[in-house]
Amino acid sequence: MKTYLVTGGAGFIGSNFIHYMFDKYGNDIRIINVDVLTYAGNLENLKDIEKRDNYTFVKADICDKEAISRIFAENDIDYVVHFAAESHVDRSIKTPEVFVQTNVLGTAVMLNSAKAAWEKEDGTFKEGKKFLHVSTDEVYGSLPEGDGYFYETTPYAPHSPYSASKASSDMLVKAYMDTYKFPANITNCSNNYGPYQFPEKLIPLIINNALQGKKLPVYGDGKNVRDWLYVADHAKAIDMVITRGRLFETYNVGGHNEKQNIEIVNIIIETLQEMLDDSDPRKALVTKDLITYVEDRKGHDRRYAIAPDKIRSEIGWEPETMFKDGIKLTIKWYFEHEDWMKNVTSGDYQKYYNEMYTV
Ligand code: NAD
Ligand code: TYD
Repeated sequence: MKTYLVTGGAGFIGSNFIHYMFDKYGNDIRIINVDVLTYAGNLENLKDIEKRDNYTFVKADICDKEAISRIFAENDIDYVVHFAAESHVDRSIKTPEVFVQTNVLGTAVMLNSAKAAWEKEDGTFKEGKKFLHVSTDEVYGSLPEGDGYFYETTPYAPHSPYSASKASSDMLVKAYMDTYKFPANITNCSNNYGPYQFPEKLIPLIINNALQGKKLPVYGDGKNVRDWLYVADHAKAIDMVITRGRLFETYNVGGHNEKQNIEIVNIIIETLQEMLDDSDPRKALVTKDLITYVEDRKGHDRRYAIAPDKIRSEIGWEPETMFKDGIKLTIKWYFEHEDWMKNVTSGDYQKYYNEMYTV
């Protein structure tokens, strides 16, 4: 039975990954989830699995060397799946230091603790161990409109404090692989969407605002392009890289689903209008008049687009969920989880929103 140490498992992708793994492997795996529960971490995301005998939650900071070393000392960890991070570009523009602290120093602590636990006396590593570092396509910088893709060989050129901190953490992982032959893989994935995503990110923010008849803030000219992937397809890719990925390799993950932000906003409005019952009072609120162009994000990357050729040809990963289906699944999930949205948008969220948006 393999034991997975998942960091940041109470966040958006981490919680989807844990659900995916228990759905797939049931009682044949064990998962330890370590999360400090920042504003983005929410144990409600894991309510249905928290009582499983093969699941343990540990509230700890990945920067806390002692707490992380203790987890390794007390458990024979086979795989680390490292999600924990500060993940929102707009917040990184306002408070870059916390991104360096968590994303860079926290990753250093995770790497050191795993190395100490897995290294043998002769400097080689115990068989079958792996550190899977979850990263982003944003480390590659920005592409011109309609031209080119990010490959694993594309030079790093991060622009935001968020992407710079993720690039630094990737470099640390690469350094451990090169220097110590530390058993690891890096995955660089495009923008995810799906259940449990915090409404500071584009898709859940637009769904939430539209349902309340609130303005829909579109940065700049709305023509920035992101390459959207349904979160379960990302979870599947991570699982496949853990089991089939060649050690020391990087794999780009994306589904060739490029869309301009304004297209995303229009699709959400149209899908909401289609899905809402005529008798639902929210139906009249959801109109394209809500779209409001606002000041552009500082240093706003124009276009991201992943070439997923390597993960497809080497590992056989393909995305399964088309955007037109994934967006319906996502909206349906938010319809069915109004309380979740109410809980996460009460308290600090209002303060964040008022400071961030004037619309
Ligand atoms: P998220 O912000 O929803 O969740 C982050 C989680 O990490 C939260 O549960 C938070 O409590 C936890 N965390 C933060 N600081 C911590 C610390 N110091 N110690 C322990 N736990 C801490 O993020 P997400 O969108 O789920 O992203 C997860 C990972 O995937 C990140 O590394 C991110 O860079 C990467 N990624 C995200 C996307 C995307 O579209 N969201 C795309 C590609 C890669
Ligand atoms: P986001 O979800 O923050 O992801 P990232 O910046 O990591 O790609 O933003 C996706 C795109 O949507 C990005 O180009 C910024 C834009 N955006 C808006 O236009 N309005 C918004 O309110 C938000 C949150 C994002």
